[in-house]
Amino acid sequence: MSDLKWWQTSVFYQIYPRSFADGNGDGIGDLKGIIQKLDYLADLGIDAIWLSPHFPSPNWDWGYDISDYTKVAPEYGTLEEFKTFLHEAHARHIRVILDLVLNHTSDQHPWFIESESSRDNAKADWYVWVDKPPNNWQSCFDGDAWTYVPERDQYYYHYFMKQQPDLNWHNPEVKQAMWDVVRFWLDLGVDGYRLDAISTIFEDPNLTPHEVPLNLAGLRRLSELAQSPEEIRQVGEYWVDMFKYQLAQPGLHDLMKELRAVINEYDGDRLLVAEDEDIAYMGNGEDELHLVFNFPLLKVGSITPALIQLNQKERLERLDALPKRGWPCNTLGNHDNSRIHTHFGDKIYDAQIARLNAALMFTLRGTPFLYYGEEIGMTDLIITDPTRLRDTMATWYYDALVNDLKIDPAEAALRAGEMTRDKNRTPMQWTSGPNGGFSSENIETWLPVHPNHAQGINARDEAKNPASLLNYYKRLLRLRRSTPALVEGEYTALEVATGEYFAFLRTTNMQTLLVVLNYSNQRHSLEMAVSGFKTARTLFSSLERSKAEERLTNLTVGPFEALIAELQA
Ligand code: GLC
Repeated sequence: MSDLKWWQTSVFYQIYPRSFADGNGDGIGDLKGIIQKLDYLADLGIDAIWLSPHFPSPNWDWGYDISDYTKVAPEYGTLEEFKTFLHEAHARHIRVILDLVLNHTSDQHPWFIESESSRDNAKADWYVWVDKPPNNWQSCFDGDAWTYVPERDQYYYHYFMKQQPDLNWHNPEVKQAMWDVVRFWLDLGVDGYRLDAISTIFEDPNLTPHEVPLNLAGLRRLSELAQSPEEIRQVGEYWVDMFKYQLAQPGLHDLMKELRAVINEYDGDRLLVAEDEDIAYMGNGEDELHLVFNFPLLKVGSITPALIQLNQKERLERLDALPKRGWPCNTLGNHDNSRIHTHFGDKIYDAQIARLNAALMFTLRGTPFLYYGEEIGMTDLIITDPTRLRDTMATWYYDALVNDLKIDPAEAALRAGEMTRDKNRTPMQWTSGPNGGFSSENIETWLPVHPNHAQGINARDEAKNPASLLNYYKRLLRLRRSTPALVEGEYTALEVATGEYFAFLRTTNMQTLLVVLNYSNQRHSLEMAVSGFKTARTLFSSLERSKAEERLTNLTVGPFEALIAELQA
């Protein structure tokens, strides 16, 4: 391929280590399990792994509360096993990026233990301390953002839960310590980082209070009850207003530049991709981050052709306007969001819609990120027994509903089961056998395995079935690898006669592809006119097509068809 970097041509696959594969039979995923499944990933056809945090953690936020940045969580294995994992992945030409949590540590991290011990220790200023809560700021997970520590007779700030104190990034020692962490894993050979929650790193220096007349639990509840467009608009505004002084504050661009300089000390084009949608974090296109996610597309309730078109227009125009042209990065799911199959389904055509959306990810311009299990069509599992919830933000919300808002416990359980991220973090479904083949029999897995593993939603059964979603993903991944225009081609949206389908071109000097995604249950005659081209040769379809080559003017697409064709003069 052309002079694109590896992270521009790659398809990424997110592994949530706790839920991917349990190699030692304790009900928790681990590195040994991941190593055993590397052949599966190579065969699937992905090029890179994003590994969610694998560091020691008290697990209030399942690894996103880190107590040691340069070790491996004992339940996942050892540093030696990590090295083996990295080596084995690289041996299969699979790169590995890690999760880098900059905003906060665990409250069990030695830095915080020292910091909270007195007002005059060496790390006294490593976190954000105040004498009195200066405002009404909320933590986005568990209510008040300021928590009292008797040893200092002071409060510390936490944007996330109280077990996740925010680091004071104005302190140069904090930076140096964290850049050392960054170098530690790069020295071992990892290929880059996914940056966690960067927009939370700095706070409004004036500590301006928010003006929303509610606290976090109240706002969550109001959001659930909102029905009319006006109510929905109002809660949307409240969410923005509640956190606007705690997010995206000055200082971030300089910090990202510094981090980029650290990354640039290394060879091999190591990658920085932010958990953020703001293209501004790409700086001038080469001095901050390499990628930010196209979250606006992930956030919509359902994907429609009009939405895709608008989304692409806005994103690509902004990326193109950077002094050094920016590269897009698309995803529809991760460990914080409802699973793609559930989120975007309409409960009638879920399977068809999932196939269209997969084709969308692999045909849009940009680097796709997949979330483990989407390739086999895993769905959300609503846990209605509050004692089985593992996501602290959900157990906190359940308690707030029952105790503070006096909501009936059965309803509270349902609401917590719906809002929790547990539903989209259940163990990977490898087989139809006990525990879905994730763990040995008679073990209680850390989260329940979705019962639909026994109804064919599992990797082994799907591997055997040529018509399965898994084989559909494999076909698309293979096509992407062998079709340069799908990776490097320019994108041009086409005018179409109805809003029910979406059509665009991907073009290089050598090749012009037509992609048509029909988001309706109707057949459509396309009546396409693309100047310079007469016929379309099918490279891929989600349906059986009777002819391999057709005149453009005669082209039709079937219900929910995803069609990729090469245009010919
Ligand atoms: C990010 C992570 C999320 C975590 C939070 C706090 O949003 O994706 O899982 O809870 O940061 O680290």
